[in-house]
Amino acid sequence: MNVLITGYEAAPFYKRGGLGDVMESLPKALSKIGVDVRVVIPYYNDIKKKYNFKEEGEFVMKFESEEDRIGVYSSLLPQTKIPFYFLDNKRHKFISYKRGRDKINQFASFDLAVGHFIGWVSEHHHWSPDLIHCNDWHTAIIPLILRKKINLSIPTLLTIHNLMYQGVGSLKVLDLLHMKDEETKELKRDKPATAINFLGEGIIHATRVSTVSPTYAKEIEQTERDHSLISPFLVKREQEGLGKDRRVMGILNGIDYDIWDPAKDEFAFHKFDINNWEVGKKDNKDDLLKCLGLEDRPTFCFVGRMAAQKGLDILIKTINHISNFNVNIIILGSGTPKIQASVLKIAKKFTWVKAEVVYDEELAHKIYAGSDFIIVPSRYEPCGLIQMIAMRYGTIPIASDTGGLRDSILNGKNGFLFKKGKSIRLKKAIERALSRMQNKEKFKKMVERAMKTDFSWDKSAVLYKKLYEEMLR
Ligand code: GLC
Repeated sequence: MNVLITGYEAAPFYKRGGLGDVMESLPKALSKIGVDVRVVIPYYNDIKKKYNFKEEGEFVMKFESEEDRIGVYSSLLPQTKIPFYFLDNKRHKFISYKRGRDKINQFASFDLAVGHFIGWVSEHHHWSPDLIHCNDWHTAIIPLILRKKINLSIPTLLTIHNLMYQGVGSLKVLDLLHMKDEETKELKRDKPATAINFLGEGIIHATRVSTVSPTYAKEIEQTERDHSLISPFLVKREQEGLGKDRRVMGILNGIDYDIWDPAKDEFAFHKFDINNWEVGKKDNKDDLLKCLGLEDRPTFCFVGRMAAQKGLDILIKTINHISNFNVNIIILGSGTPKIQASVLKIAKKFTWVKAEVVYDEELAHKIYAGSDFIIVPSRYEPCGLIQMIAMRYGTIPIASDTGGLRDSILNGKNGFLFKKGKSIRLKKAIERALSRMQNKEKFKKMVERAMKTDFSWDKSAVLYKKLYEEMLR
């Protein structure tokens, strides 16, 4: 089975968030179970500067009023035989950071290029995909383009990694693609139509739709406040009879055990595994606290993007109510200036709170290895990877009871869940965690359970393969 996976980013070549990790580790896991997988992403300048791949060829496509020449570059994913392709629009360079309309136009042009690339790769590399796997809004109009422009009836899977970002923009983008308004399904709903919603078009036109955890799949089908926009698309999809199955399939992401392994971690102060974790974690903690100037106390951390989704406001509120708890809080991450400022403010207020407002991969490893608990107060979380990483390092998650957090944490067994959005519940959960820590035997059991929980990609890759097979039937 040949599968072409596409999306906005793919580690190690270019990574901004969790999608980047998935685009590296899912292909690896699929290839291990016999799927012939290849990946295609834009050839951003950042990738070009770092790798400068050799050009393999080019093709021409009509975008706007002119012919665009698209260069094809490629490389094998390190330590594998999996080809990764990079498309370069020679007139309108693909730029990694773009706002507003430009971004919509850019990904319209990338999606059209992927449509044409399918022909190019079968002609020049004698490999034709049986199925296209698109990810998030950036690549969500590929199913529409294949149906209406390129006339290719290849099954398409659209995976939603975050429903918040839908790619809404001006209908003018259809002129650039030389497509008629009637060809998009969503448009018929508003009269007169003014906007196109990339993700919405993807949900309507893809053969199947999936997301990154079973609970998030349920949450987005019910009309939650954050996600009220999906149901019209699902209804439309059913009415049009385009997709084979109305249901949104939820498959939990995994983490890459080659990267996240405390026994081999070069960034951690000390390596350890399940047999010597008590010593290993203590040594890591001692060094971490020394390096941050903190006293030896139960240590809680937060690692992640500082975006509204991640619920730092809830954590900050809670911090204000636990100053008598005698704990340390370490916060690492970067993001919106407003959230960064409030994090810095709380760190200034309490000496036991340390904040590093940067994206620092190495420090993240040290924090996972040296903390006792990780707090994940997300307002919603499609999957979440940090709770899985932390557990692998024997760091117990205290997380909102939502999305992929609920699917990866067994409350009271390998972590703690609390009602999302409530700082008072987070405070209670921290109390529970501290009292569990005092019971040495029970806490040891919990840490070992967390470390042993299987979050490898192997399980999830099998589910994706099954879904692909079902789609090809
Ligand atoms: C997005 C989601 C996150 C998920 C990741 C990978 O970043 O917010 O929950 O883990 O995608 O699927």
